[in-house]
Amino acid sequence: MTAVRVDPAARLSGELRPPTDKSLSHRAAILAAMTTATVRVRGYLQAADTLSTLAAVQRLGARVERSGDELAITGVGPRGAVAPDGAIDVGNAGTLMRLLPGWLAAQDGASFTLDGDDSIRRRPVDRIAEPLRRMGAEVTATDDRLPPFTVTGARLRAIDYELPVASGQVKSCVLLAALGADGATSVIEPAPSRDHTERMLAAAGAEIRREGRTVTVAPTGQLALDDLTIPGDPSSAAFLVAAALIVPGSRVVLRGVGVNWTRSGFVRIAQRMGADVRGDLEAPGAEIPAAEPISDLEVAAGPLRGTVVEPDEVPLAIDELPLVALLGCFAEGETVVRGAQELRLKETDRIATVVDGLRGLGATIEASEDGFVVTGSGGLRGGRIASHGDHRLAMLGAVAGLAAREGVEVDGMQAAEVSYPRFMHDLARLM
Ligand code: S3P
Repeated sequence: MTAVRVDPAARLSGELRPPTDKSLSHRAAILAAMTTATVRVRGYLQAADTLSTLAAVQRLGARVERSGDELAITGVGPRGAVAPDGAIDVGNAGTLMRLLPGWLAAQDGASFTLDGDDSIRRRPVDRIAEPLRRMGAEVTATDDRLPPFTVTGARLRAIDYELPVASGQVKSCVLLAALGADGATSVIEPAPSRDHTERMLAAAGAEIRREGRTVTVAPTGQLALDDLTIPGDPSSAAFLVAAALIVPGSRVVLRGVGVNWTRSGFVRIAQRMGADVRGDLEAPGAEIPAAEPISDLEVAAGPLRGTVVEPDEVPLAIDELPLVALLGCFAEGETVVRGAQELRLKETDRIATVVDGLRGLGATIEASEDGFVVTGSGGLRGGRIASHGDHRLAMLGAVAGLAAREGVEVDGMQAAEVSYPRFMHDLARLM
C-alpha cells in the first residue's frame, strides 16, 4: 500500500487536459469488438479499468493494435464472440462486468465466465442476470448474485424492461443484448442515467429512439462505427474542479471535458452551491444525439453554500457525490444528498467510506440510508484517510489534503490507477 502525504496548497493555477472518459472508452472497445471493419479510437483511456476491457475483447477474438495515441480495433461482429478457455478477468471494472454480458448473451450456445478482483466479487450482478434471463440467456452466479458468474448465450427474445434503479450500466447491458433479440426491445428508466451507449449505438447505425423515459432499440446483424475520439472524463475532471473550488485563490482551466448533460450533474450542483464554474454544458434533450459534446471548464475558488441533491439528480452525478460531500465541508450551511442508495454498491460502500473518511478529517457528516448530510464547518482539519482500494476515495482524500489545515495522508493512493493514473502528477502541475 502506498501512503501519500498531500500538504495544503497555496493556490492552484494553470490549465490541463483531464484523462479521457472511462465510460466511453469501455463502450468504444466493446462496440468496436461488435463490428467487423477496423475502428480507430483516438484517446482511449490508458488506465487499469479500460485496459481490462481491451484485454477482454481480445480474448473474445477482437484484434487491437496500438500506434501512439490511437488504437485500431478490429471486431468479430455482433454474433462472432469466441468463448475463451477460463474466465474473463474484469479486474476492478464494474462497467465491463455489467456491459459485456449484454453482448455475450446473444452468442447462441456459447458460455463465458467473468471474474475479477476482491472488490468486484462483492458487487452484484443479479441486476443484469434478471433481464438477461428474461430474454432467454442462462446466467449462473455465485450465491445467485455475485461474481464469478457464467453467461450462456441464446437466441434472445425482445422484452420491455422496467429498470428497478436508474443505472447506465444495466440499461446498457439490456440495449446490447437487444441487438441480438427477435424484435424491438424497450428499456424504461425511473430517471435518466448516462446515455453514452444510446449515442454510440446511434452512431453505429442501430435503430434506436427515446420517448420520455423509454429507450427502444431494434435488433441488427451489422454495426459500423466511424473513427472515435474520446473526450475528457467529466468524472475525473470533477476532482480538479473541486480542488480549484476549495483551495483559496485558485483559477484553473480544464480543456476538452465531456459535457454530455447526463454526466454534468456535478457541475450543475456545484454551480447551485455558488461555485464559479463556467463551460458550455449541453442542455438536457429528449433526442439521442450521435455525438458527445465537449467544452473547456473554467473554475475559480470562492464561497460556497449548502444545497440539497434530490433523487432525480443522483444518476447524473453518481460518481461525483463524494465530491459533493467534500464541497459541503467547505460550504456555509447544510448539504444533503438523498436517493443515493446506489452508492452502497460501488467499488466500496461509498456512503460508509465517504462519511467515515471525511469524518476522520474533521468533517461534521452523518450517513443516512440513502445518502448523507454534511454541515459546513469552515473546512477540514486533515489527518489520515484510507482508500479501501477505491480510486475515487483515494482522489477525494488527496483533494481534501490540498485544502485541509493540516494536510492529508492517503493510504492506498495507488487505487487512482483505475481511472486516473496521472492524478498526482496533474495535481502537482497545478500547484
Ligand atoms: C457507469 C455507470 C454508473 C457509474 C459507473 C460507470 C457506466 O454506474 O457509477 O462508474 O459507465 O455506465 P450505474 O449505472 O450502475 O449507476
